[in-house]
Amino acid sequence: MPNSISTDSAQPQRKILVTGALPYANGAIHLGHLVEYIQADIWVRFQKLIGNECTYVCASDAHGTPIMLRARDEGIAPENLVERYRKEHSADFAAFHIEFDNFHSTHSEENRELVEQVYGRLRAKSLIASRTIEQAYDDDAKMFLPDRFVRGTCPSCGAEDQYGDSCEQCGSTYNPTELIDARSIISGTAPVQKASEHFFFKLSEFEQMLREWTSSGVIDDGVAKKLGEWFETGLKDWDISRDEPYFGFRIPDTDNKYFYVWLDAPIGYLASFKNLCDRRAELNFDEYFAEQSDTELYHFIGKDIVYFHTLFWPAVLEAAAIRKPSGVFIHGFLTVNGQKMSKSRGTFISAQTFVDHLDPETLRYYYASKLGSNVDDIDLNLEDFVTRNNTDLVNKLVNIASRCAGFIAKGHQGRLAPKIENQALFDSFVNAGDNIAQLYEQRNFSKAMREIMALADQANRYIDERKPWVLAKQPDSADDVQQVCTMGINLFRILMIYLKPVLPVMSHTAEEFLCAPIQHWDDRKTPLLNTTIHSYQALMTRIDKKAVNKMIEASVTNSSPAKVETTEAGTNHISIDDFLKVDLRIVDIIAADHVDGADSLIQITVSLGEESRSVFAGIKAAYDPAQLIGKQAVLVANLKPRKMKFGVSEGMLLAAGPGGEDIYLIAPDNGAKAGMQVR
Ligand code: MSP
Ligand code: ZN
Repeated sequence: MPNSISTDSAQPQRKILVTGALPYANGAIHLGHLVEYIQADIWVRFQKLIGNECTYVCASDAHGTPIMLRARDEGIAPENLVERYRKEHSADFAAFHIEFDNFHSTHSEENRELVEQVYGRLRAKSLIASRTIEQAYDDDAKMFLPDRFVRGTCPSCGAEDQYGDSCEQCGSTYNPTELIDARSIISGTAPVQKASEHFFFKLSEFEQMLREWTSSGVIDDGVAKKLGEWFETGLKDWDISRDEPYFGFRIPDTDNKYFYVWLDAPIGYLASFKNLCDRRAELNFDEYFAEQSDTELYHFIGKDIVYFHTLFWPAVLEAAAIRKPSGVFIHGFLTVNGQKMSKSRGTFISAQTFVDHLDPETLRYYYASKLGSNVDDIDLNLEDFVTRNNTDLVNKLVNIASRCAGFIAKGHQGRLAPKIENQALFDSFVNAGDNIAQLYEQRNFSKAMREIMALADQANRYIDERKPWVLAKQPDSADDVQQVCTMGINLFRILMIYLKPVLPVMSHTAEEFLCAPIQHWDDRKTPLLNTTIHSYQALMTRIDKKAVNKMIEASVTNSSPAKVETTEAGTNHISIDDFLKVDLRIVDIIAADHVDGADSLIQITVSLGEESRSVFAGIKAAYDPAQLIGKQAVLVANLKPRKMKFGVSEGMLLAAGPGGEDIYLIAPDNGAKAGMQVR
């Protein structure tokens, strides 16, 4: 990585390839993922703006057991599932103005070829060992079980229902075989041990290289130290094969063995770039990936996947005589209001839900204002999010333009003055660009945003002091007004250049308003003088807190997805223990009413004897509220209260039938005592 950067258009271009971690193609993109893709996008846009050749690629991570099982559940081919998510993810990224040069898939021909090529080289160097290992096997589902697919009681602390590899209660790690009462989450049966031949990559042979590489400044210092501990315990060979059934690439010269998803996933970075090179003449795959390449390669990743990117990956690359990354940029995890994202609190927010309620650029700005180059977690505090955007972008930034543009439009037919009114101030804004560029380069976006906002304060102070609105009322001061406002507009434009990597849409609107494109960081040095601008149009509107609340409401789901066990046939089973958790009670219906504005709901008050509850039931087509009063029904009494559009529902009445008019409350109607438990 160069120590000092050049933003000068006369300097030779750097050639940079940037990747975002490949999102798994079996779930929606959420605000946590977006930390990474927005961070990388800002950095890439900055590189492009200072004139470097910078390419940003990503892809769907298509392979592995969870994706295979999910497709099976839906009764579709995994290829179709992956393709559906690839499209959905692409649309989400586009909505946040994350501009990938290519968004490919690891389940692609390019990737298959590259994976086979890499594997071939490892084999040729005798870096693949074959060994027979015993592994948990589900005899019912006829498949080997990844560690996470076995659950049971922790051998250390006795906590029930823990994963096969580690305990969430006491944090100890162990083998699935050590679990007490282990069972497969697929069939619910106890796994058996079964032997199978596996292929291992001899990671230990790369220990020296990895020690040197990880401490050479390519990753965060703190993380490098942490890796040091791993070296102390010694590097184990890495199991890169999986038995069928598996969704992945079959290993050459085997009938039923597949490459482990984490072998082919990072190779997917290369595959995506290769696919792009085939379409873009100016990009040359070999130039970027030759062992001695002069180009730069950076991976943006989250702290949870460090091991894969800083140990396995560089070792595989070294073994395959492919260049290693110039840097792995590791970020922390997103918390919302200081806590882990939560479905029940409504803070597990999908990209789509955010876009439904708020302007995506507000998230880009907020993340930029929080992100540094370290691995600290970043917190999205929703109050702070509203204030930060409204204060910085609307009150400070947009204000500069809106205060000046009117005078230029009205008094001067949109024409800017022929000279800069305060050259020293203008120069200080231009010069600040060097430091801001350094901060972008070092991914210290939060500091960059602070510097930019300090300049915005200065610009506002300038306007406050020169008071164009007072000048405009004085005789013979038309030129002064024009000059002061021209100065304000030019300062505003410099700030929009500095913010272009973060706020591409707003910058574009500013370009149109000022009738001057922003093509290069250096454009800041050339003031707009004697040119005509359009009349001012709103560049950004204040965030209404109500929109944030609505977004939270829309994100609330009652429970985290039920732990449903899936059999091979695709039927969902819950255990008898799960069923016994459901508290079913006989209730008396004591009141029932229509709900204003709801097409299908009736609000029903039920008595459990001691207490009463209010529930909403979608049975309006089948029952008249008056008919219900005095009847009995069965209530799921321990369902977590659920906030609905019309109020909170404190339970669920059981009903049966095909739906519409044909739906019947399950009612004992034999004078059972309200509150009685049903079993
Ligand atoms: N498929 C792997 C990556 C393979 S790269 C060769 C994967 N996928 S993921 O969908 O789980 O995550 C994609 C990226 O998003 C990862 O870098 C991950 O760290 C990041 N994040 C996922 N959840 C996150 C938060 N809550 N907060 C911040 N980043 C998060 O891992
Ligand atoms: Zn434990």
